[in-house]
Amino acid sequence: MKYDKWPLQYKYKDLEPYIDTETVCIHYTKHLQGYVDKLNKVLEGYEKFTEGKTLEEMLYNVEKVPKEIRKDVINQGGGVANHNLYFSILSQRPKKYPSGKLSMEINKKYGNIENLKDEISKRAINQFGSGYSWLVVNEKGELDVISTSNQDSPLIFKMKPILTIDVWEHAYYLKYKNLRANYVKNIWNILDWSKVEENYLRECSK
Ligand SMILES: [Fe+2]
Repeated sequence: MKYDKWPLQYKYKDLEPYIDTETVCIHYTKHLQGYVDKLNKVLEGYEKFTEGKTLEEMLYNVEKVPKEIRKDVINQGGGVANHNLYFSILSQRPKKYPSGKLSMEINKKYGNIENLKDEISKRAINQFGSGYSWLVVNEKGELDVISTSNQDSPLIFKMKPILTIDVWEHAYYLKYKNLRANYVKNIWNILDWSKVEENYLRECSK
């Protein structure tokens, strides 16, 4: 089983001015591709284990990954899954607010969408070092905001990610330099809530 990056639904330049063309291009074709190549290399010789398994299933059941490659699967596999989600929820024509069931759940738990965005932004800005801020569906089936370090996926903690902000420096440094907070503030302009809703409804119906 070979794992791959998901096709981009937009051109590198389409996220301007919020994320610059060069950053999207390098991030997708170099950083993400690097994780894809390393993951497939790590899994060479483990074809019986990977057969029929999605990467997400593998990470969710991380305790079943052979011990000798588990850490590599967490790092490289996380690098692939996390970036695939990140790039898939961005759009040049985003739906600006959630609706339906997701919107109801957000209002119930956070009061309103702005409070939730503040919570996710705070996690992103305060994440020490490299990592991600997330909106997840936790084990109880409820929404939760968390952050993770390095390439740890929420899946390895039995949580289903539906939205993420990559706060590794490679995601923003060319344009924003050390000003991570400005990148985080701007990313909401291109964050497509229709994708997040799709993810939410899929995870809730499992
Ligand atoms: Fe990244």
